Amino acid sequence: MRNRHPDLFSLACISLLSVVSCGGEVQIGPTPSEEKAVVSDPQQSKIDLGRRLMFDGRLSRPSGVACGTCHDPLIGWGDGRPQGKGIQDHSLAGDTDGDGVVDHDSHLAVTGARFKTILTGRNTPTIYNSHLFPNLFWDGRAGGLGHQALFPVEGFNEMNSNWIAHVIPILKGDPDYPGMFFDAFGSSQITDILAADAIGTYEATISVFDTPYDKYLAGDLTAMSAEAIAGLTVFRGSGACVTCHAEPMLSNFGFANLGVPSAGVNALEGTLDYGFGKRTDLTQNPPVAFDTPGDYMKFKVPQLRMVGLTGPYMHNGAFHTLEEVVEFLDQGGGPDLSGTGTKDPAIVPLGLTAQEKSDLLVFLSEGLTGNPID
Ligand code: HEC
Ligand code: HEC
Repeated sequence: MRNRHPDLFSLACISLLSVVSCGGEVQIGPTPSEEKAVVSDPQQSKIDLGRRLMFDGRLSRPSGVACGTCHDPLIGWGDGRPQGKGIQDHSLAGDTDGDGVVDHDSHLAVTGARFKTILTGRNTPTIYNSHLFPNLFWDGRAGGLGHQALFPVEGFNEMNSNWIAHVIPILKGDPDYPGMFFDAFGSSQITDILAADAIGTYEATISVFDTPYDKYLAGDLTAMSAEAIAGLTVFRGSGACVTCHAEPMLSNFGFANLGVPSAGVNALEGTLDYGFGKRTDLTQNPPVAFDTPGDYMKFKVPQLRMVGLTGPYMHNGAFHTLEEVVEFLDQGGGPDLSGTGTKDPAIVPLGLTAQEKSDLLVFLSEGLTGNPID
């Protein structure tokens, strides 16, 4: 199995330039006084701080899982799994199969930490263009990026940590973080809100608007192949994809129920996943629980840039390939689970020809997929 995290961390360290100590190893970089000269722009300092936090495995408890473990730049800023996998402390979780050995996932086991892995219950979305969305998560329960970043750290099935008790003391005791917070915010405060703000500012840089489709829209008619151009015609016409994936953002920022297979079942809880219809709105203080049957099993309409790199697809990772997604939509989505969620009226059998499906696929996998950001 893979162990991306150390790679990512050192990758982040190298690209940071100003970082002098990463993963216990001394990096070649500017001295602190040179560093001050290099990093003078607060916005850039915020981005650098956010990047450092995003790839810091010490934010989890026990350490070993960073945001970047699940949102991996090398895997389209997701994790390549149908559903995300986080950690749960051995002392909390125990050994589930009763063999006296903690259930390790191999890529986490190399850290030697005594924890088991646990599914998050939903697919890990890409970070690409997540700054576009006013509401994040598949059910829209969080606000924008600087708000969303507060939650994974304390999710018992993600990073299992605690900002106040665990993370802030680590940041305060670190040789680099206090200076980085100062450069970013101009004060000696280190808080969860500021950390999340910095992470959100960094995530907003993971923005892609230079796909072949974007170049084509800007007037470069050679940017997409003839097949991709034909696929765009299907996307706009017989496929009616733009009803929800509205151009040019490719999302109307709404929520819809496509009848995705097992859309109902949340693998973590083994219960129905009602999505937007039963969300707890975390932007309210205290959070407000919604139960609106008309919205059951609606999930966020994803923006589709870089979709060639961000599988598996849908809120529960039901489809591994774009072929499966196109086939599913051509058939008119899944069953209407009446009583537990009404399928969107726009999801009907499309009757696309084999050529149209193939062109649509080229549009998605090539036209919408540009150069990765790492
Ligand atoms: C254990 C894997 C895991 C870790 C660690 C993790 N995430 Fe996520 N992330 C997920 C999953 C799964 C979702 C979808 C959850 C949902 O919709 O209910 C998600 C959703 C998101 C989203 C919403 C994207 C969208 O389009 O709606 C953002 C942004 C995000 N995570 C950023 C972060 C940040 C920042 C951190 C670290 C503070 C982090 N994640 C840590 C798995 C992870
Ligand atoms: C009624 C609104 C609607 C229409 C029409 C629609 N989509 Fe979507 N699309 C969504 C929603 C909502 C999701 C997520 C559903 C879920 O996870 O349960 C989605 C998911 C996807 C995904 C998976 C993306 C990911 O990151 O997981 C792809 C690819 C996609 N749609 C392409 C298309 C194409 C191509 C068409 C036209 C043939 C189309 N969609 C038509 C609303 C729509």
